Amino acid sequence: MVKRSVREAELRSKRALVRVDFNVPLTEERKVADPRRIVEALPTLRFLKDRGARLVLMSHLGRPDGHPDPRLSLRPVAEELSERLGQPVLMADAAVGPGAEKRVKEAGNGDIVLLENLRFDPGEEANDPSFAQGLARMGDLFVEEAFGTVHRAHASTVGVAKLLPSYAGFLVEKEMGELSRLMTTPERPFVALLGGAKVKDKLPLLHRFREKADTLLVGGAMAFPFLQELGGQLGGQPPEAGLEKEVKRFLDAESSKGATVRLPLDFVVQDLRDGTIREAKAMEVPENHRALDIGPRTRAMFGNHLRSSRTVFFNGPMGKIEDPRFANGTREVLSSLRGVPGVHISAGGDSARALADLGVEDCFTYVSTGGGAAIEFIEGRELPGLAVLPDG
Ligand code: 3PG
Repeated sequence: MVKRSVREAELRSKRALVRVDFNVPLTEERKVADPRRIVEALPTLRFLKDRGARLVLMSHLGRPDGHPDPRLSLRPVAEELSERLGQPVLMADAAVGPGAEKRVKEAGNGDIVLLENLRFDPGEEANDPSFAQGLARMGDLFVEEAFGTVHRAHASTVGVAKLLPSYAGFLVEKEMGELSRLMTTPERPFVALLGGAKVKDKLPLLHRFREKADTLLVGGAMAFPFLQELGGQLGGQPPEAGLEKEVKRFLDAESSKGATVRLPLDFVVQDLRDGTIREAKAMEVPENHRALDIGPRTRAMFGNHLRSSRTVFFNGPMGKIEDPRFANGTREVLSSLRGVPGVHISAGGDSARALADLGVEDCFTYVSTGGGAAIEFIEGRELPGLAVLPDG
């Protein structure tokens, strides 16, 4: 699947309405805490500027649910962007309306206007036609650069794309290329390492990798329902309810074609009564204990699989990594990829940040900017923000 590229657009003196995903974390002082998504959009923005377009950028930030909320203004993003591009970014006080239109009218070739948070208006998420028209009035063409938001059928992702000549930006092209290659022509052995808390949300992903990968390593709290189904004792672990059938089906020999599934052999567990920490067999977590990280045998086993791979996909931690006492399993397992040749991709959730916090970013060849969007892409679902773009 290739989409019409922004390289093909006539740009001189044109108003390029660009959907970016500047939904970035902010600090308490309202500064950009993690600029990755801004940095990743820069090549497209520079290309448009250099070709003499006027840039009108639109993004959401957080989930203000259709109401203006000064804490979710895009002003800190405008400051960050202006520093990175070395030019002023003109901030509009709303996403649509006379004020925003005036700002765009005042802009010359190469200038950049950033519209205020799209989700301050209920029209954005409702994909309201008049809100989409209000946006489209400020552009001659539309560039989709917000890969992280293409799973949303909103006015700025789908509505405007139907009203203006539309193109894919470089980040969208790069993400589609990396993730498509991963799922269609991976070099083998292909190992998927999946963790995190909620099995329910991840079942489609598990099925997908069982189909596509050679080995599926399941860690984190995601492993609990599987271990339980196999007769494991999980101590003080609250089981994720209502999954028995699905989990059984997944483990069932009849449907177990595809990737070999490996579950944890041991855990690092904490006594819920006095907080002491020790190791326990994965099938025998004692009463009143909670498994919070994978244990040494599991780390070694997962590490061996990863070291002998040619392609790796990672999503979701192996333990409660926000607590440094339980971050070692994830860190050790991912570190085993260091220096291993091959394609190592991570996507979904806030994976980029987690990898940086763990100090293992260098173990990956590609980290997607997409959270839910990347996961849905990998699951093979149709993403409205991509479907609406003309094919290239
Ligand atoms: C993300 O951070 O995953 C995207 O910006 C989409 O945000 P949303 O989940 O609030 O739609």
